[in-house]
Amino acid sequence: MKSKKFPANAAGLREAARHIKSGDLVAFPTETVYGLGANALDERAVAAIFDAKGRPSFNPLIIHLPSLDAVRSYVMLNKTAELLAAHFWPGALTLVLPRQPNCPISKLASAGLNTLAVRIPGHPLALDFLEASGCPLAGPSANPSGRISPTTAEHVLEGLDDKIAGVIDDGPCKVGVESTVVGFKGEKPMLLRPGGVTTDMLEACVGPLAHHDDDDGAISSPGMLLSHYAPGCPVRLNAHDKQEGEAFLGFGQEQDILADINLSKAGDLTEAAAQLFAALHLLDERKVARIAVGPIPEIGLGIAINDRLRRAAAPRD
Ligand code: TXA
Ligand code: MG
Repeated sequence: MKSKKFPANAAGLREAARHIKSGDLVAFPTETVYGLGANALDERAVAAIFDAKGRPSFNPLIIHLPSLDAVRSYVMLNKTAELLAAHFWPGALTLVLPRQPNCPISKLASAGLNTLAVRIPGHPLALDFLEASGCPLAGPSANPSGRISPTTAEHVLEGLDDKIAGVIDDGPCKVGVESTVVGFKGEKPMLLRPGGVTTDMLEACVGPLAHHDDDDGAISSPGMLLSHYAPGCPVRLNAHDKQEGEAFLGFGQEQDILADINLSKAGDLTEAAAQLFAALHLLDERKVARIAVGPIPEIGLGIAINDRLRRAAAPRD
């Protein structure tokens, strides 16, 4: 089945929602990256996500919901979660919370865990699509497992053409890195994945976060595989020079002289996050021998950017 591009208008959304209702997969834009949507109540549709992505079935999915009422009907929010939800939703934050008793969301979506990762996306079209579909949407990033996440409809089709019904095209994603994933030990919030909402922002709202590796390991994010976000070629980090055959991914004015692509000449981390995956996709297409990446400050959104780059550079199986 050739995948379609659905336009970001009422007719496009209606057609895309019809596919969701019949159990097909439709990729949709969010403020972070494009998600691969399926009806989260339909076990077979969810299974099709794992199949299309080649995703290990122990790696659970994020459930996208249109409102706090919808969130409450599926999971139990503690007081800290309520605070975070009030502050950051709709937005680039995912909360991992206990399922309500008899929660009807596919068990496969949460890989058999009794918790569920939920988020209200901060993108008007994603909210309209949820409304039109009339069901919760399971939505991992719309890329083959282990590869670079998509921030445009074209990236989605490069990786998943023929494997999905289509993609709703609403141009590039604003944030450019995935949502921050927060889990809880009791009411104590723990960072499971750095992302679009920075640790500073979270801590200003609810105080210090625990890091899950500081803890007893009872809560973890099974999807945090070391090799991920990987382009076709090797990646060398913290590069201060450009070697034979390399393309240089730079950041800031100082690295501009070396840079084949500069994530932000002005040294702006928000701009760099928004450009990151598109830059990796572009260098991937150029089939360079290796990508060298200059240093990026480990502060604010730089923490999520460096996390993704470390995984892009990690040894592959
Ligand atoms: O920005 C995003 O989060 C995007 C957009 C489409 O919403 N989605 C996304 O999904 O990045 P995905 O599947 O690529 O990443 C989901 C992450 C994984 O690291 C997974 O392990 C974690 O969330 N996760 C999901 N359910 C979990 C659970 N019950 N407990 C712990 N971690 C969970
Ligand atoms: Mg992903």
